[in-house]
Amino acid sequence: MSPTPNYPAWDAEEMRRRICEVGRRLYELFFVAGNDGNISVRLNADEILITPTNVSKGTMRPEDMITLSPEGELLNAPNGARPSSEYRMHLTIYRHRPDVRAVVHAHPPTATGFAVAGVGLDRPFLPEAVIRTGGTPLVPYAIPGGDELPQSIVPYLAGHQALLLGNHGAVAYAPTLTEALFGMETVELNARIYLTAHQLGHINFLTDAQIAALRERYDV
Ligand code: 13P
Repeated sequence: MSPTPNYPAWDAEEMRRRICEVGRRLYELFFVAGNDGNISVRLNADEILITPTNVSKGTMRPEDMITLSPEGELLNAPNGARPSSEYRMHLTIYRHRPDVRAVVHAHPPTATGFAVAGVGLDRPFLPEAVIRTGGTPLVPYAIPGGDELPQSIVPYLAGHQALLLGNHGAVAYAPTLTEALFGMETVELNARIYLTAHQLGHINFLTDAQIAALRERYDV
């Protein structure tokens, strides 16, 4: 783990609005149903904004957001609301990835189908997985909101921007909230592309030579 950077502070009101926008986007994309999913941002070194538990991500208001310390202490919660039941997963990601300032968890249907079938998306079949995302490995099942889930993701956090959570969904994390949303969109799109190739009868994974050439060309 590298030392915690001195984060430029983000405007809290702006980020509360942005979390609501991303929640609406997840809902419109059908990446969540009912109260599924949760979103957080690291406002600064001492404060994390996170969605409350048990609310639709499609209808949240900026004032609904909850503020936690990086250790999980409740700093501000409107009307006694409680933070997302997955807050420890979010905090674990921030602890192990100092570059990350936003986390998005959702249940995008095709990618979650892969997580149910036990199929990871970490073997590269698109150049972008080598150049940018590092692919999306599958983390074995752990009870949502339970003690084991945050620990279960730790070995997979480095070198990836998103993970499939076994029999559960996906989580994407990035230096900005927009990039974390894009990461979630990419996971779902890659799952659809993989499924299409599979239905067509064959997946041409990138060869070791193609992967090496991409690494050299893009210096990754
Ligand atoms: P919360 O409503 O507690 O955030 O939980 C939603 C969810 O998707 C759990 O995995």
